[in-house]
Amino acid sequence: MNKPEVVMIGLGYIGLPTAALIAQNKTFVHGVDINPHVVDTINAGNIHIIEPELDIAVANAVKEGFLKASTTPVAANIYLIVVPTPFKAKNEPDISFVEAATRAVLPLLKENDLYIIESTSPIGTTEKMMALIYSERPELKDKLNIAYCPERVLPGNVMYELVHNDRVIGGIDEKSTDKAVAFYKQFIKGDLHKTNARTAEMCKLVENSSRDVQIAFANELSLICDKANINVWELIDLANKHPRVNILQPGCGVGGHCIAVDPYFIVSDYPMESKIIGTAREINNYKSFWCAEKVQTAKLEFELKYGRKPNIALMGLSFKPNIDDLRESPAKYIAQKVLQNANNEEYYIVEPNIKEHKVFKLTDYKEAVEKADIIVFLVAHKEFKILETPIDKVVLDFCGVFK
Ligand SMILES: NC(=O)c1ccc[n+]([C@@H]2O[C@H](COP(=O)([O-])OP(=O)(O)OC[C@H]3O[C@@H](n4cnc5c(N)ncnc54)[C@H](O)[C@@H]3O)[C@@H](O)[C@H]2O)c1
Repeated sequence: MNKPEVVMIGLGYIGLPTAALIAQNKTFVHGVDINPHVVDTINAGNIHIIEPELDIAVANAVKEGFLKASTTPVAANIYLIVVPTPFKAKNEPDISFVEAATRAVLPLLKENDLYIIESTSPIGTTEKMMALIYSERPELKDKLNIAYCPERVLPGNVMYELVHNDRVIGGIDEKSTDKAVAFYKQFIKGDLHKTNARTAEMCKLVENSSRDVQIAFANELSLICDKANINVWELIDLANKHPRVNILQPGCGVGGHCIAVDPYFIVSDYPMESKIIGTAREINNYKSFWCAEKVQTAKLEFELKYGRKPNIALMGLSFKPNIDDLRESPAKYIAQKVLQNANNEEYYIVEPNIKEHKVFKLTDYKEAVEKADIIVFLVAHKEFKILETPIDKVVLDFCGVFK
């Protein structure tokens, strides 16, 4: 392979597709991951994650010599940081992976290089990394281009969205912003919007917080409607007939590694100012707890009425419909909570998008519906939507399968 122009640190759901896209553009990419299995898989022309069209892109890029993976970085002109940014206990963001990745490339940096963070990051992370770089390499002070460019792709459609989505690009100065825009322009067809690093960092967090707040409003309505004996689905449908009202649908909480996580990056740094964002998180978490309590109540009512323990079907485990991703899933949380309170009832756990699970024994959805006395819909998977409403059973529809 020729001398790499780009070093990509982190070859996961975002880093690998981005590396493949850049390589497709005939730019030499040296991909780095601390996981040797990831490195070996990619160097064999294969992929370790599920994402449509990524397999072909990686196989071609490796075969043509434009993509190579390694556990250590080499010198290049452009460094992209695409490592995880999880949260720690007390919902505080953990930027230690970004720092470790930055320390790994630090000795390789030279004048005029471009260093970009793509990982979802708390406000000020790019400036913090700049301070780290210049404290270790003072001779480079103000001679690097440092920018932040968040990712907003939808898993399952990454190879299309990577090219066509607009991007927000914020440098620590105008020169850095311009350099980063010139880089992304080579392979992105969406519009590239210039700003500063702090605004770009906040923009990513705000996009997901906005979704979280809107879902919290729908979830709050579902709690009020339950008490007021109003059908929340009908209510929202009617309210949305107003030309300027667009209420989202309630569910059994909010999950996934973005919407359920990113708002905490704002709340933990600005707790006094982010009241709505913080409360939305609480409402969405509470909705899951409330659903688990509803199952418990339905169970006790059944026992009182029929004098026997009910069979219970829990329908869906993933964090949204028609996917196999269980990260931060409210449905999984509810299933765990319900099973913790189990008292000799028979449970059927259903997740049609997963064959096996190491904790839950899974049952086919039709069998579960047939055998259950209480059917709890946690995720509106397409398989469930075609079921008839069972009239002789107790149905708890938390996600609008029969709305
Ligand atoms: N997946 C998404 O849909 C999505 C969307 C938008 C933003 N993001 C953000 O993008 C970032 C990356 O997410 P992802 O989904 O690609 O994560 P991921 O867990 O799929 O991949 C990250 C990779 O980085 C590697 N890694 C960790 N530390 C490293 C280090 N010091 N050096 C080299 N490799 C290292 C891991 O082994 C892993 O393979 C996160 O900040 C995430 O919040 C993700």
